Amino acid sequence: MKTTIAEVGKYVGQEVRIGAWLANKRSSGKIAFLQLRDGTGFIQGVVVKEEVEEAIFQKAKSITQETSLYVTGTVREDTRSPFGYELGVTNVEVISESTDYPITPKEHGTEFLMDHRHLWLRSKRQHAVMKIRNEIIRATYEFFNNEGFVKVDPPILTGSAPEGTSELFHTKYFDEDAYLSQSGQLYMEAAAMALGKVFSFGPTFRAEKSKTRRHLIEFWMIEPEMAFYQFEDNLQVQEAYVSFIVQNVLKNCKLELNTLGRDISKLEKITAPFPRITYDEAITFLNEKGFNDIKWGDDFGAPHETAIAEAYDKPVFITHYPTSLKPFYMQPDPNREDVVLCADLIAPEGYGEIIGGSERIHDVGLLKQRIEEHQLDEKAYEWYLDLRKYGSVPHSGFGLGLERTVAWISGVEHVRETIPFPRLLNRLYP
Ligand code: 4AD
Ligand code: MG
Repeated sequence: MKTTIAEVGKYVGQEVRIGAWLANKRSSGKIAFLQLRDGTGFIQGVVVKEEVEEAIFQKAKSITQETSLYVTGTVREDTRSPFGYELGVTNVEVISESTDYPITPKEHGTEFLMDHRHLWLRSKRQHAVMKIRNEIIRATYEFFNNEGFVKVDPPILTGSAPEGTSELFHTKYFDEDAYLSQSGQLYMEAAAMALGKVFSFGPTFRAEKSKTRRHLIEFWMIEPEMAFYQFEDNLQVQEAYVSFIVQNVLKNCKLELNTLGRDISKLEKITAPFPRITYDEAITFLNEKGFNDIKWGDDFGAPHETAIAEAYDKPVFITHYPTSLKPFYMQPDPNREDVVLCADLIAPEGYGEIIGGSERIHDVGLLKQRIEEHQLDEKAYEWYLDLRKYGSVPHSGFGLGLERTVAWISGVEHVRETIPFPRLLNRLYP
């Protein structure tokens, strides 16, 4: 029976044939243990000298790392492995030999691994992270589909800048100037006026000169936008959504979380509602904690976010930031001109901000004023102002950074391991 590693549980006691690569191998005079992978999973193949033809045993012993194979064997339950099965190998056929595979089971430096990212992806750890990333994407579509959202795809080449002009990738668009999208939000606002509740999922680009474990140059964002939703409604969508993806990873990625050594008990606590503190309270809290460098009006750095997160075992919303710290489109607090109706969601365990969101300005006069204050080119925003001219309504939305969310849920230190081919400050290869 031709099958895959993920499916072998259906064939206990039967003989199966699997296309695979040799991930690793241990052998002695009498037995060879083949660590096999086929993309769907990892399984140990056991070749016993006494039980196979001598030529097969010798072949099995000589297979080199990452050689591709067809392996035939009997599926057995194996209570010692987290996967639960092993293969009693009866035959091995080499498809294509691999010699001098650069990534050996010994330790390698990060730069070396990054230079070989196209091969590093085959490792058990990277496989686990990619599976968790995929589950988060799958659960995202499930959540928003269940909630009646419509998936809308904003453009990647744009003429306007939602998140400030300093971090834009510039390109020529025939005779015009264009930028790679840093957020689809403005277009999603237009879509929300047409379709009510919408979400996007796509790549975004920021020419940020930050070399931290949280920053990528190209990253993927999920951006929901909802007509008639106000500040509080927006937070409720976020906490329901984030809890949903965590609970689905717990349910569907047990093996991967185990491979990564993730502390499951920390993820099990992630259920709505999430705690909230205002920006003002956060400043007071930090000053009391001994952070004397930060005062009202300053933005938080990574150490500040981490200190705040450590006070909670769930993600925490920091709300009502000073207007001066945030983009032009955020709705002011009706009770206080100097803060806006926004929230950043800070992940636990030092993973930093995973969501930025807000209620949007729906008054055309105020929006025009903000565009001027931020010295943006009003012509590029004419279409955006139209949304406030023709039946403007209160609306809100947010953006979740996929890679930071994958890093947090997987428990990996750096976002470079959470995207197949990371684009970093000094890296465009492979
Ligand atoms: O807070 P940000 O800049 O918000 C926006 O772009 C809004 N327009 C979203 C919206 O309301 N529709 O970015 C949103 C999230 C951050 O919270 C963070 O998780 C992620 O995107 N992010 C990055 N992730 C990796 N590398 C970077 N350089 C990132 N910049 C932002
Ligand atoms: Mg932000």
